[in-house]
Amino acid sequence: MSGRGALIVVEGIDRSGKTTQCAKLVSALLSQGHKVEVMKFPDRTTETGKMIDAYLQRDQTLDDHVVHLLFSANRWEQCSNMLENLHKGVSLIVDRYAYSGAAYTSAKQGFTLDWCKNPDKGLPDPDLVLFLNLSSKEAESRGGYGEEIYEKVEFQKKVHNNFLQLKSKQWKVIDASQSEENVHREMLNNVNSVIENVKGQQIGKLWL
Ligand code: TMP
Repeated sequence: MSGRGALIVVEGIDRSGKTTQCAKLVSALLSQGHKVEVMKFPDRTTETGKMIDAYLQRDQTLDDHVVHLLFSANRWEQCSNMLENLHKGVSLIVDRYAYSGAAYTSAKQGFTLDWCKNPDKGLPDPDLVLFLNLSSKEAESRGGYGEEIYEKVEFQKKVHNNFLQLKSKQWKVIDASQSEENVHREMLNNVNSVIENVKGQQIGKLWL
């Protein structure tokens, strides 16, 4: 049966396994015959993405408000492309989205969750958010953090708490400390039912 694609977001703190799981999910869905594409935010290839990348790698200092707005702009750049794909029946698996935007910036001094959500209001609303739940301690023990600016255990702990405050009815919390295969199976089951259920539904607007 034809119909629109589903917007599936995968979220979690650094090292929770998002990128590996997104790749496994896409290949499983493709082999089931679904039309599907993977996307990742930040998209470091665009002009805003290059500025974000320089900031994350500590090559450039930027005001925290500016960084937050760049991350949001980096998503808005893809908005029409995302809607076009969804309307064509392509499901999107998105590695990080506006929830990361709000959870990371609001872990900084002087930022409320509410302020942080504002610039992303109105983006396409995900049909499903798979939150890979892992404590910051466990995440750190997974081969260590890299050099990027947010990869510190105390900061990730705050981010984790912020994510949990953003939970809504579309969220499924997945225990990311399970084996890679079990996490995959749980994600795939959730995605399969959502892809079937959204076909006749309109695409909503995030946080509006
Ligand atoms: P990545 O490691 O998934 O490429 O993400 C880069 C870092 O940027 C990661 O620490 C999470 C952070 N981030 C934000 O602070 N705001 C955002 O809006 C997004 C998408 C990521």
